[in-house]
Amino acid sequence: MESITTYQSLFLEYLKEEIKVGQPEHLYLPIEYLLHMGGKRLRPVITLMGTDCFGGNVKEALPAAMAIEVFHNFSLMHDDIMDAAPLRRGHQTVHQKWDINTGILSGDAMLIMSYQLLNKYKDPLFGSLTRLLSKTALEVCEGQQFDIDFETQSDVSLEAYLQMIAYKTAVLVGCALKMGALIAGTTSEQANLAYEYGLQLGIAFQIQDDFLDAFGDPKTFGKQVGGDIIENKKTILYHKAISGGTPEQMITLQKWFSQTPKDPTEKISEITALFEVTEAKQATQQLVKDYTQKAFKTLDQIEIPNSKKELLRSFGLWLMHRTL
Ligand code: IPE
Ligand code: IPE
Ligand code: MG
Ligand code: MG
Ligand code: MG
Repeated sequence: MESITTYQSLFLEYLKEEIKVGQPEHLYLPIEYLLHMGGKRLRPVITLMGTDCFGGNVKEALPAAMAIEVFHNFSLMHDDIMDAAPLRRGHQTVHQKWDINTGILSGDAMLIMSYQLLNKYKDPLFGSLTRLLSKTALEVCEGQQFDIDFETQSDVSLEAYLQMIAYKTAVLVGCALKMGALIAGTTSEQANLAYEYGLQLGIAFQIQDDFLDAFGDPKTFGKQVGGDIIENKKTILYHKAISGGTPEQMITLQKWFSQTPKDPTEKISEITALFEVTEAKQATQQLVKDYTQKAFKTLDQIEIPNSKKELLRSFGLWLMHRTL
């Protein structure tokens, strides 16, 4: 086991075996559609990597890696309804291709499937994994609700924003790596450090996601570029533009973020230009680097062989340089 692609391939083979269309087709087809549509598979990769790095048998981590990926895809199916998103991984979102009810129920089924996948483990590991998933899943819901609440609030602080992204996104990355560590049978102290590493990388990852939402290449990004702007998400770009801009620029930004025009073209281009002139673009890229460096400090405290640390570091660098 040595590279990210090796773990991805191992996971994809298992995915092909595990996820098949059942009856009623209208429930299972959207699940298969979304799960086989691609994606970076970063969460299952970090679970498998975690087991490997802490000295366990990687194959034993496959059901947990699948549970995490199925949970992630459940959250995307519902997130796309909540964000009114038309595109996911370069394809129509489930609620666009079918309808909202389909997205709700197929998503619910995936949440249940993610727990079922953990039935493959025996106690006490089973208990530890399910408790961790439940805690994480509820935090993801909390993060998602804050995200929606913030769309219509004008005074969201940077701290509140960072807490929100930690919950909606980073806790699942922490959970994915901690599961891998637990499966390898490491100490709780080491497993908690693994969680911390995943959490910090997860924060960097969501900041990068916010960056790409405005500055990604529409040809490769796979999601609607400008989607966060349309939905009035006060992401880190917005915060940095407010703090780096002139009072007039601040007023223009706030004006745009309180409107939802039918044709969003002008809003997107004006706001993107403001993100550039206020240097919010560079400040955001810098923050991704800062959080990744912070994560690497946590990694230094983890007691695993250096070659394994390098592997976990390469995962962090891969996330930082992603373009989709
Ligand atoms: C998208 O996650 C949702 C976020 C938390 C930003 P990914 O960027 O990992 O999505 P896929 O699975 O690779 O498509
Ligand atoms: C998604 O955040 C977080 C969850 C799905 C829980 P975003 O809304 O930023 O993710 P994308 O950009 O749609 O992938
Ligand atoms: Mg969202
Ligand atoms: Mg979204
Ligand atoms: Mg996003």
